[in-house]
Amino acid sequence: MNRQIVVTGAGKGLGYSIARRHVALEDHVLALEFRVTDELLALQRENPTLVTVKTCDVSNTDAVRSALAELVKGQSPVDIVYNVAGIFFESDRVPLTETNIDIALTLYNVNALGPVRVLANVAPLLHNGSVVLNVTSEAGSIGDCKRESEYGYSMSKAAANMASKIFSNEYRSRGVRVFCLHPGWLKTDMGGEGARLSTFSVTPEESAGKLVEITTHPQDIPDDVMYMDFKRNPLPW
Ligand SMILES: NC(=O)c1ccc[n+]([C@@H]2O[C@H](COP(=O)([O-])OP(=O)(O)OC[C@H]3O[C@@H](n4cnc5c(N)ncnc54)[C@H](OP(=O)(O)O)[C@@H]3O)[C@@H](O)[C@H]2O)c1
Repeated sequence: MNRQIVVTGAGKGLGYSIARRHVALEDHVLALEFRVTDELLALQRENPTLVTVKTCDVSNTDAVRSALAELVKGQSPVDIVYNVAGIFFESDRVPLTETNIDIALTLYNVNALGPVRVLANVAPLLHNGSVVLNVTSEAGSIGDCKRESEYGYSMSKAAANMASKIFSNEYRSRGVRVFCLHPGWLKTDMGGEGARLSTFSVTPEESAGKLVEITTHPQDIPDDVMYMDFKRNPLPW
């Protein structure tokens, strides 16, 4: 389809599956990754005209600017941005009195500010019809929150939701659609052993398929729905 796609966290898990799906659709993918993986390099080797790989630590403002510099300089329009890169620490799954509060700063820097850094650079390349999909989580929902732990992760995802909403307000008049997506409980490294064994979890390939269907057909999602899960069930903020 010849669209220009940007994906963070593209080396493995959900980000890699999204990148692969767009390559299959013959889109151009700028795949940004913290530590470039063999899988991603193989995707690039097999599709040299479609895939560009760059290292990018989304927690570092200069690194994000530098990874996106060539794209920004070329001024080619960007059609879809997926902010997928994220971190979770098992050590966050403890009561408040045992929580390492400083870890929350690391989670916030990657999960909340990472997407903001990416958008601050690509925003001038977005156009009427561009779509931004920020992979947040149901963990970012305050209205639905039943957790009694995971302070840092949940707070970082709620903050990412807020950033998405403000960006959506700012760019709505330019025709840019923004979504916050809970991708499901993923059979990935982050989802862990529990997700790999569970029948309630979803493969990154399946989740990526649903997400790509949303970004390539945004008109199918009602205008007032922005935060939802991968099955399109709206989530309360
Ligand atoms: N897994 C779940 O069940 C679940 C549920 C809800 C929401 N989510 C969200 O979905 C997204 C994808 O999750 P996943 O399960 O695919 O996770 P994953 O398999 O752990 O992959 C996460 C990716 O993000 C990259 N990353 C981490 N820190 C980064 C940084 N500072 N800069 C750039 N890239 C960085 C990782 O790179 P390295 O491997 O090099 O560190 C990795 O490629 C995350 O935002 C996560 O919070 C996941």
